[in-house]
Amino acid sequence: MRLTDEIAIITGGGQGIGEAIARRFANEGAKIVIAEINGETGEKVASSINKEGGKAISIPTDVSDSKAVDLMVEKTLDQLGKPTVLINNAGIAVFGPPLEITDEDWKKCFSVDLDAVWYCSRAVLPHMLESSHGSIVNIASVHSFQIIPHTFPYPVAKHAVVGLTRSLAVEYAPKGIRVNSICPAYIFTPINEWYFNKFPDPEAKKRETEQLHPVKRLGSPDEVANAALFLASSEASFITGESMMVDGGISLLIHDEV
Ligand SMILES: NC(=O)c1ccc[n+]([C@@H]2O[C@H](COP(=O)([O-])OP(=O)(O)OC[C@H]3O[C@@H](n4cnc5c(N)ncnc54)[C@H](O)[C@@H]3O)[C@@H](O)[C@H]2O)c1
Repeated sequence: MRLTDEIAIITGGGQGIGEAIARRFANEGAKIVIAEINGETGEKVASSINKEGGKAISIPTDVSDSKAVDLMVEKTLDQLGKPTVLINNAGIAVFGPPLEITDEDWKKCFSVDLDAVWYCSRAVLPHMLESSHGSIVNIASVHSFQIIPHTFPYPVAKHAVVGLTRSLAVEYAPKGIRVNSICPAYIFTPINEWYFNKFPDPEAKKRETEQLHPVKRLGSPDEVANAALFLASSEASFITGESMMVDGGISLLIHDEV
């Protein structure tokens, strides 16, 4: 049990990476809050954790709405207690060639992929500061460091998530709060199924994508959950402001062949 006595808020915990983190953290003794825009999937994950002997509640929340975030943290305080772990996982892929991106696309991307990370951090920090104990883990991306053409403006927001991570890490390190990020490459989740399905032959695109990684496969949500568990737990007590690549080696490459 590596997270006994921790109360962990996981945004976007209704599916994919967030769901894997919620289940893993519950198995390690944390009480879980699933802050998910889709009330149905959030409730399904929470009740399945409870059936397996864990403790989880679902609080349907649009994390891009700062008032909704504040309300979600108030409900967490009422129902479970002070949050000690925050996993900023909710994210959306807004991809396109820069000059085809509308103001609406830009705002949508930044509202979920960046603003929400700040709103949730801002709402939990005062409670973490009261007990000088807390860990925030932001799910950034390999797009925080590398650029794939025509995926604008997602990488811009994910670069900023790393900036926010480093900035808050320095600010709150003396107060006992650590802030880190995880940068996954292609993890097989619904967001990537959606991406592969945009191509005429989704299976061929998936195989091609697997080959891009030195490990020659996609990652699994559980592999990201393992990294999140380490960073959230006291095992990472001297680690803050870090961006941990969970990417099968893809970010090491310039080309896979010459
Ligand atoms: N899957 C990958 O290959 C990959 C790679 C790098 C980074 N990431 C990042 O990991 C995170 C999770 O990705 P995933 O693949 O599990 O995605 P996903 O689409 O499978 O799940 C995202 C979850 O977030 C929820 N969500 C979306 N907008 C929300 C909002 N406004 N408020 C609350 N919840 C909201 C969705 O309903 C969904 O349940 C994202 O931040 C994504 O950018 C994913």
